Amino acid sequence: MSEINIGLGNTDTETRRDAESDFVTFWGKQAKNLFWFSTWEKILDWNPPFAKWFVGGTINASYNTLDIHQQDKADKPAILWEGENGESRILTYKEMWIKVQKFTNILKSLGVKKGDRITIYLPMIPELPISMLACARIGAIHTVIFSGFSATSIRDRIDDSKSKIVITADGGYRRGNVIKLKEVIDEAIKDLDFVQNVIVVERAKNKINLSSKDMFWNELMNDVSDTCVAEKLDSSHPLYILYTSGTTGKPKGVLHGTGGYLTHLYSTFKWAFDIRDSDVFFCTADIGWVTGHSYVVYDPLLHGATQVMYEGAPDFPDASRMWEIIQKYHVTIFYTTPTTLRMFMKFGDSLPNSFDLSTLRLLGSVGEPINPEVWKWYFKVIGKEKCPIIDTWWQTETGGMMISALPGLETIPLKPGSGTRPIPGLDVSVVDESGNDVPENTKGFLVIKNPWPGMLLTLWGDDKKYRDVYWSKYKNCYYPGDYALKDADGYFWLLGRADDVLKVSGHRIGTAELESCIVSHSDVAESAVCGVSDEIKGEAIIAFVVLKQNVIKDHIILEKELLIKIRNDIGAIATPKQIYFVTKLPKTRSGKIMRRLLKAMSSNETIGDVSTLEDGTAVSEIQSVFDEIQKSIQKSN
Ligand code: PRX
Repeated sequence: MSEINIGLGNTDTETRRDAESDFVTFWGKQAKNLFWFSTWEKILDWNPPFAKWFVGGTINASYNTLDIHQQDKADKPAILWEGENGESRILTYKEMWIKVQKFTNILKSLGVKKGDRITIYLPMIPELPISMLACARIGAIHTVIFSGFSATSIRDRIDDSKSKIVITADGGYRRGNVIKLKEVIDEAIKDLDFVQNVIVVERAKNKINLSSKDMFWNELMNDVSDTCVAEKLDSSHPLYILYTSGTTGKPKGVLHGTGGYLTHLYSTFKWAFDIRDSDVFFCTADIGWVTGHSYVVYDPLLHGATQVMYEGAPDFPDASRMWEIIQKYHVTIFYTTPTTLRMFMKFGDSLPNSFDLSTLRLLGSVGEPINPEVWKWYFKVIGKEKCPIIDTWWQTETGGMMISALPGLETIPLKPGSGTRPIPGLDVSVVDESGNDVPENTKGFLVIKNPWPGMLLTLWGDDKKYRDVYWSKYKNCYYPGDYALKDADGYFWLLGRADDVLKVSGHRIGTAELESCIVSHSDVAESAVCGVSDEIKGEAIIAFVVLKQNVIKDHIILEKELLIKIRNDIGAIATPKQIYFVTKLPKTRSGKIMRRLLKAMSSNETIGDVSTLEDGTAVSEIQSVFDEIQKSIQKSN
């Protein structure tokens, strides 16, 4: 495997040594980089699978991202905001601090208290981090929903979290169109009486309907005090809920705490990005996902960094938008997804080559496996062979990076396509079904054998599910649901999901959720969905649908109806590339759909043992569909 020897010349062997000798004391040392109102009595209280980090310590995320910078960084830009339509705004650390305090006072005046939940459904505008930090200031738990989700999805999330306030905007820009966010919220909360108020930011100035619950952000901000003391919160006080898709039913609310989470973030940003005062950081993730929470909102601000925040689609109005932004703001660190890179790669080298990208010094990738050829393109064409690439593996549940090259800590050879090694303090292995370590270069299941500070506290309102989903496959080990292999140099290669979760353009989609949406159509008897490899999106969804007997509707009409239903019930991100109507699904004799078979067939792998299969003709019908897909892929290549 080819190696690339490039780093930033940093060699801090002490950190790794400390972490290996005693990971608990090690994290205690890292936590001292933050501001604590009172220090902890115990670093870790580990009652598997529940961890409490920095027990007895009190801290505040809003204080650590804003107040601490007011002495020496008050006038430094915190956010260089670029609207999709070309507008721009600069917010300094002082301006952010004042706006956050004002907005916190507004929340307080509406009766929001520590522990209350607040739903935020905003586009990528500065009011989004301001709202989150205002919640954090008084210990209200924010739950941000990606602005692409439908009213039904939002309703489920608001209902599950019982949010009493919703913050939204009249509209948001996406590819030049206005997405009417307020309309979606009106629909989502229409029978949720516990929602007391909706605060509306006027972004697109489109016409909206107003109810007695609605209030305008600007009007509220006009007349409110700009000082509000940050609450001293317990280290384990919940900071946010972020809903994410899993293998069963509806999305689950991943709950993150404060002190441990911030410690994890602070350290990983320093190690992975080697952040310096002069840097201009640009992470393209939407704040509706965990990357945006951790590496757009909390982490750059913890470090007092300047960052670019971009509102819209990365290829709008054309495929040069990202390169133009890097040139305009002199971006030094760029963090994006393999899907975005694959899309840009398709447009060739001349576009990026026509912009000045010379300020870049570090490049990051996140969210899905990065193909070695895309890695190399990123390294050569965007980084001009002088920027280390960090391929960061982690999850909504882990809070921050878990496996990544760490140029801010050490210089090690990079291998295109490998995340390299775990961060200090983690004990990671690749195991077989029985939990035994597999030999080098053998595919197995990734497991994490010890707690880490950024780990989720639990699933909102469901400790049992938390235990069952993550901690029951292997005793006292966290099971992330990913395949991996470890090579002879101890480098990890992440090989995709091992469960029924899809990664489409880096977004996580649960097959069970999608199947139950399809099955709720009155003409559908059964459905199975799976991922097929896609040149740009990494994975694309295909759905197999068995209709109820005697349904004579045209398949084209049915397909249209199903696509509308999926968009309405979940959101456009869950739209299948293709829906196939079949007469039966491959099932075991006990009636379970054999998704393993679908997965193997879709990836052109051998289907293995099928002795439990009830009826072989289901496989041959579906196999012919996959053969067609393979043929069309070969044709398009
Ligand atoms: O399968 C892994 C994949 O994304 C999953 C987590 O998704 P989510 O919670 O949405 O968080 C994404 C952003 C951190 C993982 O279980 N994944 C994430 N990063 C990588 C990756 N797969 C391979 N390489 C990565 N760098």
